[in-house]
Amino acid sequence: MTDAPTSSLPASHPLVSGRTSGSPLVRALRGDRPETLPVWFMRQAGRSLPEYRELRVGTAMLDACLDPAMASEITLQPVRRHGVDAGIFFSDIVVPIKLAGVDVEIVPGRGPVLGSPIRSAADVDALEQLDPAALAPISEAVARTVEQLGDTPLIGFAGAPFTLAAYLVEGGPSKDHIRARTLMHSDPETWSRLLAWAADVSGAFLRAQVLAGASAAQLFDSWVGSLSRADYVQSVAPHSAAALAHVADLGVPRIHFGVGSGEVLRDMTTLGTDSVGVDAVGVDWRLPLDEAVRRVGTGVTVQGNIDPAVLSAPWEVLEAHVRDVVRRGGAARAHVVNLGHGVPPETDPAVLTRIVALVHELGDGTDGAAA
Ligand code: CP3
Repeated sequence: MTDAPTSSLPASHPLVSGRTSGSPLVRALRGDRPETLPVWFMRQAGRSLPEYRELRVGTAMLDACLDPAMASEITLQPVRRHGVDAGIFFSDIVVPIKLAGVDVEIVPGRGPVLGSPIRSAADVDALEQLDPAALAPISEAVARTVEQLGDTPLIGFAGAPFTLAAYLVEGGPSKDHIRARTLMHSDPETWSRLLAWAADVSGAFLRAQVLAGASAAQLFDSWVGSLSRADYVQSVAPHSAAALAHVADLGVPRIHFGVGSGEVLRDMTTLGTDSVGVDAVGVDWRLPLDEAVRRVGTGVTVQGNIDPAVLSAPWEVLEAHVRDVVRRGGAARAHVVNLGHGVPPETDPAVLTRIVALVHELGDGTDGAAA
């Protein structure tokens, strides 16, 4: 394990001051196996927590994201309750596109919906650059949160250009992202400009979080599973690489996650190049971690992949599943335990707390005790 250069970060940044550089999460992301496996959950902040539901009454989702005190408190809730090894910043992948002037809202139970979809060259021409000053509420929320987190690292995140484009072109949630994929084939030039814009906006959002104190950065390509491998490599991966390049000089560990990503997992690791381009790759519940390691090799940490559906199964079933995930993760250079996708809103939060305690009893995950 080598310490990545962190020279462009301020001396007070937790990765530089040493507050989080020795944390199980940061060590595992950099390829080490700490004495206890780190564990956190995608969507750990949110509707599974009664304290979240209470705080959110009367505030629209995107207004909550832009209120630094509220975003910070919501980020801290699951860390206090579950004892997870990381906070994930409470925000949304569409926050930076809203800050760049796109008319978007999040409809409860549905997801992001646009006032008018982006479908033509003229629509793409009309997109505006993100004014860095607009990110002030994000930087403030992160700084407040990191102050409270002590030695626990905060993960910053952004949406990958393809997943953002899936919302921008469709105008809302969609099943197979047909319109977006049609645009990719019918007008590659417009497609490429749209993804380049999304990469810039997401990259700036991610960079603001890292500079304000986040100790890791995760790129979410939730809908990557609808792409063929060839289309991913040619028309998408270079833009994801461009988004992640916004934090490359900061030396912060980078995680790349997608759903249904089995066919492209290796390409998500290399970002379409010949060598490993991220520190960790997130794996969904469909692919056992030992098989994921066979596909991506041992030059990268794996993160995952408890099946969210098993969270509501009897504890014995869930416990056996978690142990199996940890055992298979033993094939990787290092493992960050997580779900294969987000926490479903109906999850009993006590179950998540119990998983954290179980994972912390399983040592570094390689002693076979997990079997
Ligand atoms: O705890 C965390 O993981 C941090 C917060 C977070 C949210 N969104 C909060 C949120 C993160 C990391 C995201 C990312 C995000 N947003 C993704 C990528 C991850 C994934 O889940 O695949 C995507 C695809 C979105 C777009 C989006 N925003 C969807 C599909 C939804 C769900 C709609 C619904 O109501 O079911 C949202 C809304 C959203 N983002 C909620 C939360 C807590 C629910 C809002 C509410 O409480 O009403």
